[in-house]
Amino acid sequence: LGDGANGKERTLAMIKPDGVSGNYTEEIKRIIVESSFSIVREMLTQLDNEKASAFYDEHSSRSFFPDLVTYMTSGPVLVMVLEKRDAVSDWRGLIGPTDAQKAKISHPHSIRALCGKDSQSNCVHGSDSTSSAEREIKFFFDDVLSGDIASQHDEL
Ligand code: TYD
Ligand code: MG
Repeated sequence: LGDGANGKERTLAMIKPDGVSGNYTEEIKRIIVESSFSIVREMLTQLDNEKASAFYDEHSSRSFFPDLVTYMTSGPVLVMVLEKRDAVSDWRGLIGPTDAQKAKISHPHSIRALCGKDSQSNCVHGSDSTSSAEREIKFFFDDVLSGDIASQHDEL
């Protein structure tokens, strides 16, 4: 995945339960399109404990983990594969810092400032590296191939 022959890159974006239930989906998708991302795939899905725990496995030993899983399973999420040049870092830049409370001060135009609440309920997810993006895209869309992105556009 990562960098295709056309220079584009893919990342996994997710609108978390508070974003979906708070009716932020349309506004977030507008920001995505206005920021020149293509939405390659999207899926509205409900995570169960097993799936949310597996998605955040790297944090399984953290004290916030049980609450995180409860939050992530509290309602449907919208997962999307976004594509553009530098998709991973550009999407992370758009969503802003993890703690939405801090985002409102330091990054007031970020998506987490717009619709997040605190360090747990932060409205959106973005892959933190191209290798995370590859894992996370496969996690939700096992039919989206890795490798050269240019040759995959006819699956849209
Ligand atoms: P992390 O990977 O550190 O942040 P990011 O989502 O910006 O990559 O943490 C993953 C998620 O875990 C984060 O989005 C919300 C949750 N979380 C908490 O609930 N409390 C915390 O103190 C932290 C750091 C994260
Ligand atoms: Mg992270």
